[in-house]
Amino acid sequence: MKGLGLFSYNSLASTIKTVISKPESVRYNHDFSLPEYGENMTSLKEAAGKSGIYIGTVPDDSNFSKVLPSEFNSATAGNAMKWGKLLVDKKIGEYDFTTADRITDYVVNQGCRMRGHVLVWGRTPNGGYPAELDGIIKKSATPKEDIRTIMKDHINVMLSHFKGRVTNWDVVNEPMQVFGPKFANYTFYNILGTDYIKDAFSYAREADSDVKLYLNEQFFDYKDKRARNFLTLVKEMVTEGIPIYGIGLQHHIMYNEQSIEDFDWFLGQVAEMGLKVELTELDIRKPVFKKSRNPELSQAEAYYKIAKSCVQSGICEGITIWGIDDAHNWYDFTPPFNGKTKGENAPLLFDRNLNKKPAYYGFRQAFLEN
Ligand code: G3I
Repeated sequence: MKGLGLFSYNSLASTIKTVISKPESVRYNHDFSLPEYGENMTSLKEAAGKSGIYIGTVPDDSNFSKVLPSEFNSATAGNAMKWGKLLVDKKIGEYDFTTADRITDYVVNQGCRMRGHVLVWGRTPNGGYPAELDGIIKKSATPKEDIRTIMKDHINVMLSHFKGRVTNWDVVNEPMQVFGPKFANYTFYNILGTDYIKDAFSYAREADSDVKLYLNEQFFDYKDKRARNFLTLVKEMVTEGIPIYGIGLQHHIMYNEQSIEDFDWFLGQVAEMGLKVELTELDIRKPVFKKSRNPELSQAEAYYKIAKSCVQSGICEGITIWGIDDAHNWYDFTPPFNGKTKGENAPLLFDRNLNKKPAYYGFRQAFLEN
C-alpha cells in the first residue's frame, strides 16, 4: 500500500474500512468523512449509553443549548465553579453563585448530569486560585491549621450549595508540576505536602456522603516518571482508606499524540486499584497531525482510538469533550497555541458552524462498535 494516493485510498476505504499497512505519515485507518458514517443517526449519548458511559461537554458558550441534551447527557462548567471565580471582590468566604447556578440549573433541568470542576486547584488566579489565600497564610502563626480550615470551609460551602445537583466532583485538580515529575509547589503543597490532597477528599466525603470524588490530572505521557509518581500517590490514598472514587484524566492532546499502549497500561493500573476513570477534558488539536496527509482524518482516528480504549477498559464512566465547536476553544486564546495557530487549533467534534466533523463520527464509532 506504500505510495498509494489519498484518493485511491479513500475509494478503497469505502468498502474496506481498515487499511492494513500505510505510510506512517498518513496515520489513520478509517476515513470517517465517508457518507456511510453519517447515515447512522444515533446520537453520541445514545451510542455511549450502551457502554454505560456519559458523554459531556462544556456549557460556556451560546451553542450549548443547540446540542444539549440531544447529543450530550453530562456537562462541566469550564470556569464558573472555580474557587477564585466564585468570590465577591476576591474575598475568601464571600460567594456569588449566580453564573454557576444558572449553568447548573439549565443542565440539570435538561435531565443531564453535572460534574463539579473544581474544589481545590493551587494554580494562579486565572485557574481559579483564591489569591487572597497566600496573604492570609503568610501572616498566619498557625499556617497548617489555617489552610486546612479555609480549604474545609470552602469544600463545605460548595458541597452543600450544589448538593443534589452535582453528582461528581473534581476534588483536586492538577496536583503535579505541568512538565516535571514532582507535585507542584502550590501553597497547599508547601504547607501540607500531599496531605492537602488527602484532606480535601476526606472533607468532601464528610460534607456529602453520596457524590463521586475524583482526582483530576493532565498527562502527556501515561507511563513516565510523572505518571508513576501520581499513581503511587493514588495507591497510597486507596491503602489509607481516603475516599477517592476515580481518576479524572483531562486528556488534552496539545503537542503529540499519546501512545495508546501506555494509556491502556495506565487504565489497567487504575482498574487494579478498584477505581474508575473519566476523561474529563478531552480535546485534540488538529495541528498535532500536521505531518498527516489528512490531519482532519488523523484527528478523527485519534478520537476513535481513545474512546475505544475507554470502552474496553471497563472502568470508564464518562468522557467530557472540553467544548462544543471549534469557534469556541481554549487554545485559541491561550499561549502558545494562539497567535499563529489561532483558528487552526480546531480541537473539537463540531466545526465553527456547528457541523459534525469526521472527529464526531470517529468518536461515536468507537461506541457503536461495542
Ligand atoms: O472572557 C475573556 C475574553 O473577553 C478575552 O478576550 C480573552 C483573551 O484573554 O480572555 C477571556 O477570558 C478567558 C476565559 O478562560 C474565557 O473562558 C481567560 O483569559 C482565561 O484565563 C480562561 O481560561 C480558562 C482556563 O481554564 C484557566 O482557568 C479556560 O477557559 C478553561 O477552558 C481552562 O480549563 C482548564 C481546566 O480548568 C483545567 N485543565 C486545563 C484546562 C485548559 O486550560
